[in-house]
Amino acid sequence: MPSVGPANIGVVGLAVMGSNLARNLASRIGNTVAIHNRSRGKTDALMSEHPEAGFVPSYDYEEFAASLQKPRTAIIMVKAGAATDSVIDALVDVFEPGDIIVDGGNALFTDTIRREKAVRETGINFVGMGVSGGEEGALLGPSLMPGGSDESWDTLGPILRSIAAIAEGEPCVTHVGHDGAGHFVKMVHNGIEYADMQLIAEAYDLIRRGTGRTPAQIAEVFAEWNEGELESYLIEITAEVLRQVDADTGKALVDVILDQAGAKGTGAWTVQTALNLGVPVSGIAEAVFARSLSSHPEQRAVSGDLPGPAESLSVADPDAFIEDVRLALYASKIVAYSQGFDEIRAGAAEYDWAIDLGAISKIWRGGCIIRAQFLNRIADAYAQTPDLPVLLTAPYFVDALTRSQDAWRRIIATAAGAGIPAPAFSSSLSYYDGLRAKRLPAALIQGQRDFFGAHTYKRIDKPGTFHTLWSGDRTEIEAEDTH
Ligand SMILES: NC(=O)c1ccc[n+]([C@@H]2O[C@H](COP(=O)([O-])OP(=O)(O)OC[C@H]3O[C@@H](n4cnc5c(N)ncnc54)[C@H](OP(=O)(O)O)[C@@H]3O)[C@@H](O)[C@H]2O)c1
Repeated sequence: MPSVGPANIGVVGLAVMGSNLARNLASRIGNTVAIHNRSRGKTDALMSEHPEAGFVPSYDYEEFAASLQKPRTAIIMVKAGAATDSVIDALVDVFEPGDIIVDGGNALFTDTIRREKAVRETGINFVGMGVSGGEEGALLGPSLMPGGSDESWDTLGPILRSIAAIAEGEPCVTHVGHDGAGHFVKMVHNGIEYADMQLIAEAYDLIRRGTGRTPAQIAEVFAEWNEGELESYLIEITAEVLRQVDADTGKALVDVILDQAGAKGTGAWTVQTALNLGVPVSGIAEAVFARSLSSHPEQRAVSGDLPGPAESLSVADPDAFIEDVRLALYASKIVAYSQGFDEIRAGAAEYDWAIDLGAISKIWRGGCIIRAQFLNRIADAYAQTPDLPVLLTAPYFVDALTRSQDAWRRIIATAAGAGIPAPAFSSSLSYYDGLRAKRLPAALIQGQRDFFGAHTYKRIDKPGTFHTLWSGDRTEIEAEDTH
């Protein structure tokens, strides 16, 4: 096999993400990009549509490997799952020790850990990399979350820095940590995205039902919010979606879209992983479940006449109500991000990754769906206290929660009274109050567990583990800790 080809980087998989990432790479000075796709059509189309990119096409893996300089570096952008495994196998066959295979698809981080271990045994480096920002991000500058070895980062770092989004002068990429760390962080990013979207949707619903404003009028509310502390891509596009008029009916588009939200699974992964780690990401979980609830028309059809409040909501002071909703949204959003960062902290501890949480908040400031001003405040919090156990206890967030908590409680009480579902708002407040509680009813749960399962308990007033002889004379004995 020839040792030196013309390209310094290659892309395998030329659907929407891969072709845009390849074009982004080709547009940066110094890059020559090798391209390959399983079926020939996409390669030929990209070659003819973008002659300016100077791509080096190949139609089999031997040719692809031969078109790359050493160490060969290839980014895979194919359908996540079995397709990724088959492309990795094919590349391992034609690559050599020291070469680098990057999976930029949305892989489950445990698959990435498995793949990294298997590929490392061949001497080839494997990097699982989260890529956020959709097709536009891939073309113009995504937020990139690479894992993998330090050795691969030496080669990849300069290339990735050149194609990433820039936020406040800094490229939105960092070496997240080893093996599956990058895909783990991308997964949590998506979980936070689910929560943020659900919170915005609840805010919209409350304003609509509380004030009777039209989608176009509510678009103006979101546009105004985007000028302040809520400034973010998701708030910005919410205004755009609410403004959109359906060409067929002349109605607001949001009123003709079927109210059943889909999902591709990364939100569910975030929640499943959090359950395994014992991290309460209740806001993200409610967001995932809210999509599930919406997508069961057969259940909703038989439940529509269940009893609820007789009166629909009509607020006396719409402007004050909208301001309350804004504050409730901000407080709930702080909780969602705090929970997401808690999951990353717990994942890093479990999988032995040295993840810099402040650096993660910074690479999410540009190029990704959750990009927001607010992430600067998270970076500040971790700069001040790198091992902060609960993000929302950072001084800036305490101030924000002090300002918003009354409004937050009013909104949830109003929603419950009026029968308007606000699952993410409500669960975020319960989480917050749970954290604040000096004493939780968990003590009673321990008592119940000891009653039926002899699971034992600890006492507040002396060390040791105890069990009450519930079916005997109900005296307390010292016991072995069985959790
Ligand atoms: N779309 C987004 O906004 C977004 C954002 C971030 C990350 N991602 C991730 O990026 C990756 C690519 O996404 P996408 O939307 O561009 O494409 P996709 O629809 O997920 O996948 C299509 C690509 O996979 C290739 N492929 C499928 N099975 C294959 C196999 N067995 N062997 C080799 N190649 C195979 C296809 O080749 P053929 O042309 O031959 O069928 C095509 O190039 C995915 O993992 C996705 O989850 C997507």
